[in-house]
Amino acid sequence: MDWVHLEETDSTNRVAKELARQGAPHGTVVSAKRQTAGRGRLGRRFCSPEGGIYLSVLLRTDLPPEDRALLTPMAAVAVCRTVERLCGVRPDIKWVNDLYLEDKKLCGILCEVAGDAVIVGIGLNYAMPPAGFPPDIPATALYPPAGGPVSREKLAEAIAEAVLTADPRACMAEYRARNLVPGKRVTVHPISGEPYPAKALDIDDRGRLVVEWEQGTTILDSGEVSVRF
Ligand code: BTN
Repeated sequence: MDWVHLEETDSTNRVAKELARQGAPHGTVVSAKRQTAGRGRLGRRFCSPEGGIYLSVLLRTDLPPEDRALLTPMAAVAVCRTVERLCGVRPDIKWVNDLYLEDKKLCGILCEVAGDAVIVGIGLNYAMPPAGFPPDIPATALYPPAGGPVSREKLAEAIAEAVLTADPRACMAEYRARNLVPGKRVTVHPISGEPYPAKALDIDDRGRLVVEWEQGTTILDSGEVSVRF
């Protein structure tokens, strides 16, 4: 692994995309102690105070473009496995890119394309920030502000390694099994259009969410759902 660690940057995904454009190899990892403009899905900001693990893994994958959507589920499974193995807690996955612990967000994943490379960006709440998290989404961390028995560095390295060695197609059954959405009543927030209530039925082999609602069955490959816990 070629590892670039920064004290502070705007976004490790942005830096990794830039390195990809300059020809950086598969397996390059960019990490930072904090981000000033962390990127989330759907154009959102990802709050990135000191205490989190922020890393971006550059993949030069031979997956055909239509299978690249599997990389987000793959990364979710890779992070879950690593956190469970090293920290002894079992996060759930919330379709499509979030990890939750006890109904609170622990980690977000953002995959971005940079030419023929894909950047897998992972933001994991390792230690609780002393000022807490912003109130918009209920969030939690693995450890209190001082950290825990597994160091941030060791966990970050193990996560990057897990992302680099996971097989996207072989992760799908585990992605489905660890996902808390199927079977739940949800509100679907499409990328465009009004939110609507639905029942989540299943996740297919392409990582898409199958929902049933007023107008029948729909397969979602983007957007977001909120779960009525
Ligand atoms: C989300 O929850 O919407 C996805 C958040 C992804 C955040 C990570 S932190 C490391 C990498 N760099 C970024 O700017 N974003 C991702």
